[in-house]
Amino acid sequence: MLPNLIQHHCSAGAPMSTIGDKYLLGTGRSDHERLRVISEIHDGRTRELLRKAGFVSGHRFVEFGCGLGYVTRWAASEGANATGIDLNEDNLAVATELAGEAGLKTAEFRSANIYEPALPPDSVDVSYSRWLFVHLNRPVDAMRVIHKALKPGGVMVCEEADVSAVYTEPHSPAYTELRDICMQGARQRCVDYSGGRRVHLWAKEAGFEIVHVDAYHPHYVTGGHKGFWNWTLRSVALGMVKEGSLTAARLEELVAEMNQADASPDTLVAHCRMHQLIAKKP
Ligand SMILES: C[S@@+](CC[C@H](N)C(=O)[O-])C[C@H]1O[C@@H](n2cnc3c(N)ncnc32)[C@H](O)[C@@H]1O
Repeated sequence: MLPNLIQHHCSAGAPMSTIGDKYLLGTGRSDHERLRVISEIHDGRTRELLRKAGFVSGHRFVEFGCGLGYVTRWAASEGANATGIDLNEDNLAVATELAGEAGLKTAEFRSANIYEPALPPDSVDVSYSRWLFVHLNRPVDAMRVIHKALKPGGVMVCEEADVSAVYTEPHSPAYTELRDICMQGARQRCVDYSGGRRVHLWAKEAGFEIVHVDAYHPHYVTGGHKGFWNWTLRSVALGMVKEGSLTAARLEELVAEMNQADASPDTLVAHCRMHQLIAKKP
């Protein structure tokens, strides 16, 4: 049996069918702009990865934790019978609206928890998820659910982050401090913000055969995406301020220093490293 630190360490406290599993980020429409930028930063690599996994027109495609549904809509535009599943009704409403505007008849969005997606067994050719397992208390159980829904020979494709890889050069102590505060906040909720580096282990434990692993690491010195992790860490930390585990004054100081780092064209800001996985149901 392979180690599954999150599930084994935290399972006693984890509810059986958690809605959203201790989600630290903002939810609802307040987070939509951030999801749009995630799509801008990552969708190109995601499409390449899905093609590498054998995704083609006519496939039954399901995206778990689809957010605003960028990848599901792309899959439908490529000729897939595509379903996006998420718990967040606001996200699903926008995803559906955008699919309608694009005239995509084979894209469907519906509300479900990944642990209970109501999919027929052995029915899916390709599953996809990005930024989902790092928010879950029971990533291996979630992968077992995907395993059951896939056809034999079907593939699970995921892209998950290692947030501990966020850094700046020259070193900005504020970036490091806020990154570590957020990582610690996640650990206290029994979710793993460095889980990207373990997705292959989770997949193996869930019964998958590993086909491909890789990772990429966006870096910026200028441009609109440079401050993305300043923004995201701040969003996570605001949840911690609301809970009382971080003071608003300290967060303000850290953000002011991070803004200075972002404003300097000499400061390199590295985002989280994104781990990619293609795993097959034997
Ligand atoms: C960080 S967002 C990523 C969205 C999208 N995958 C993307 O890359 O833009 C995580 C998404 O997972 C959804 N989510 C969290 N827990 C879930 C669960 N247990 N079942 C289904 N969706 C979940 C959230 O509602 C949110 O839309």
